[in-house]
Amino acid sequence: MAKRIVSAIDVGTSKIATIIANVRAQDDIEILGVGVVPSHGMHKGIVVNMDEAKTSITNSIKEAQRVSGIKVDSVYVGVTGRHISSLNNRGVVSIPHDDRLVRPKDLKRVLSAARNMPVPEGKKLLHAIPRYYTLNGEEKVNQPVGMHGTRLDVETHIITASVSSVQNLAKCIRSIGIDVEDLILEPLASGEAVLSQEEKDSGVIMADIGGGTTDIAVFKDGNIYHTAIIPVAGYQVTSDIAIGLGLPFHVAEKMKKVYGNVTPGLDTSKEATVTGIENGHSASYRDLCDIIHSRMEELFELILLEMPTTDYQTLAPCGLVLTGGTANLIGLPELGKSALQIQVRKGQPSDSGIYGITDVLRDSAYATTTGLILWQARNRERSTWQVKRGGILGGFVNLFRKLFRG
Ligand SMILES: Nc1ncnc2c1ncn2[C@@H]1O[C@H](COP(=O)(O)OP(=O)(O)OP(=O)(O)O)[C@@H](O)[C@H]1O
Ligand SMILES: [Mg+2]
Repeated sequence: MAKRIVSAIDVGTSKIATIIANVRAQDDIEILGVGVVPSHGMHKGIVVNMDEAKTSITNSIKEAQRVSGIKVDSVYVGVTGRHISSLNNRGVVSIPHDDRLVRPKDLKRVLSAARNMPVPEGKKLLHAIPRYYTLNGEEKVNQPVGMHGTRLDVETHIITASVSSVQNLAKCIRSIGIDVEDLILEPLASGEAVLSQEEKDSGVIMADIGGGTTDIAVFKDGNIYHTAIIPVAGYQVTSDIAIGLGLPFHVAEKMKKVYGNVTPGLDTSKEATVTGIENGHSASYRDLCDIIHSRMEELFELILLEMPTTDYQTLAPCGLVLTGGTANLIGLPELGKSALQIQVRKGQPSDSGIYGITDVLRDSAYATTTGLILWQARNRERSTWQVKRGGILGGFVNLFRKLFRG
């Protein structure tokens, strides 16, 4: 089968991960190399120090190249941050042909009608994803081409991003001689990696709790329904521990990862002092867990505020799936369950259809990294259509090309 090498880069606040894969088919993906390095120069999803970010990105790509023996020329890039906004918008066109048969060009017209909306100054369309179509205002249809009707509607999920934030990230990558193939919203990527089709069909909320941001995506009827980015995640938990317990940040980070438990229970035998992590730094286990508990409780409240409806239980019968590095906190699903009154599970990238160097990717922290490759493989036609024919995303990427080439 044809060999198609695809590379993607997940530029996180804690780590930068490059992945190189041979994508033979949607469910036949061989991971050839992964390069993970600590992230510098990034804060809450955006570049704050160009030189530091460039160095981290270079090191991550070099490592993936070394492992795979393949040189990276272009990458798919994950995008996140508070500058992202989303909304659902409808497009309507009439079907003018005598036979009233919907043709591919009608789909193009209706999508163009849906994305023909005012975008605030300094923002650009990142994705316009068709959620479903209706013909003559009747039942929802996934693929209307070849069906008859007089009026075609499309409901789309529109995602916009700040031009300057994305330009800065793209500039870091392009300045090291690597092309930006396409931009992918990170929660969409994470959703591809950790959610089942059944969950997406029935309705599910996904929260990727990373280092700097919590990326939220709600899926319904098999497609994206809502996205939101909260600028609070694991970094703030560590920072609270450091301040609350009077510890250096790196010691607080280690304590959180080794001993952190969101719901430690009333087991008094666990009221031990955490010692010996580094230079005799110590803290009460109970205090450590209380701080983490409060922060995560607050985060679940913020997630609730981002829901598109107060009746989120009906919207998402499959509940909440937690991923990202912070989802590794012990007891987090139980806390989420009591805060939101829905079922909550931890999501890790599944091995199904993916093989090769996958060991590192099994952790929740690699949901976005793995998802970038999956999104690309599963949505390739849509993506390349947009880039090659100068569509929405193509316009955005071509803008970078113009700005940064030469
Ligand atoms: N076992 C663990 N227990 C608690 N927290 C953990 C654990 N492992 C990782 N984390 C936390 O997860 C966070 C990193 O997660 P992740 O790798 O998903 O972030 P990122 O992708 O770099 O950042 P972002 O997506 O926010 O830009 C850090 O705050 C880290 O402390
Ligand atoms: Mg991340």
